[in-house]
Amino acid sequence: MAQASAPLAGRIALVTGATRGIGRAVALELAIGGARVIAVGRTQGALEELDDIARSRGAQAVTLVPMDLADGAGIDELGYAIHRRHGRLDILVHAAAMFGGLRPVAHIPPALWDKILAVNVTGVFRLIRSLEPLLRASDRARAIFLTSAAAVRPKAFWGSYAATKAALEALVRCWADEVENSTIRAILLDPGAMRTRMRAEAYPGEDKEGLPEPERIVPFLLDLLARSEPGLPTESQRFTDWRSARVGVSPERP
Ligand SMILES: NC(=O)c1ccc[n+]([C@@H]2O[C@H](COP(=O)([O-])OP(=O)(O)OC[C@H]3O[C@@H](n4cnc5c(N)ncnc54)[C@H](OP(=O)(O)O)[C@@H]3O)[C@@H](O)[C@H]2O)c1
Repeated sequence: MAQASAPLAGRIALVTGATRGIGRAVALELAIGGARVIAVGRTQGALEELDDIARSRGAQAVTLVPMDLADGAGIDELGYAIHRRHGRLDILVHAAAMFGGLRPVAHIPPALWDKILAVNVTGVFRLIRSLEPLLRASDRARAIFLTSAAAVRPKAFWGSYAATKAALEALVRCWADEVENSTIRAILLDPGAMRTRMRAEAYPGEDKEGLPEPERIVPFLLDLLARSEPGLPTESQRFTDWRSARVGVSPERP
């Protein structure tokens, strides 16, 4: 069992995208740090593996929620379940997203467009809608949303993903402004290039050597969670900037 003295002991954390990549790395470290982690993703086996690894490293059991974030009613049920079990939520890390492939805007299949909007945009709205009361019940809530440079630097063939990340940023900024006088602080986090399945989908054929493993971003995320006053997310927090400031190296790939 995690020690009561662990840095995140007693904190209730919800992590989406917890089956792989950045979300999985974050969920694992939050659990090892003592948080009660609720892990969301569609792949049941990967969620179970996360729980096995967390417990083998001294964490308490992770609550596993196999769910598609396009399921708005499911998100409402999740919010109600957290309300009944914990009465509050202290940490939200929303890492789940779909990339949707590379193609000209005019060639985006309408069904794909509907799906990526449902997951990457409406899913964010439904999470905020269901979780805001729980976050308000926390003495110090932090909600971190993973974004991308594509939100502000859109380019050819990235239309569906870039549009959804721009929408995510706008939505989170509006919400952060609304809850400014509460205990909730929202943060937009741009991880930059990470060695994950999504990166491989966006840059097929890229040499993965030199790309940071997703575990590398976790200390930055813990640093963001620990900040007493992160301010409004008028700009996203960039992992490459944080890393450069700490180790004195130039930012690498986009
Ligand atoms: N990696 C990069 O270089 C990079 C760069 C900029 C921004 N980002 C952002 O960082 C975040 C994490 O990306 P990543 O690289 O870690 O991606 P990843 O390895 O592909 O993981 C994506 C996660 O999202 C979940 N997910 C996808 N569709 C879902 C759905 N419909 N319902 C529920 N869960 C769903 C996946 O789980 P299941 O498949 O099990 O559902 C998986 O856990 C994303 O928001 C991404 O946009 C990544």
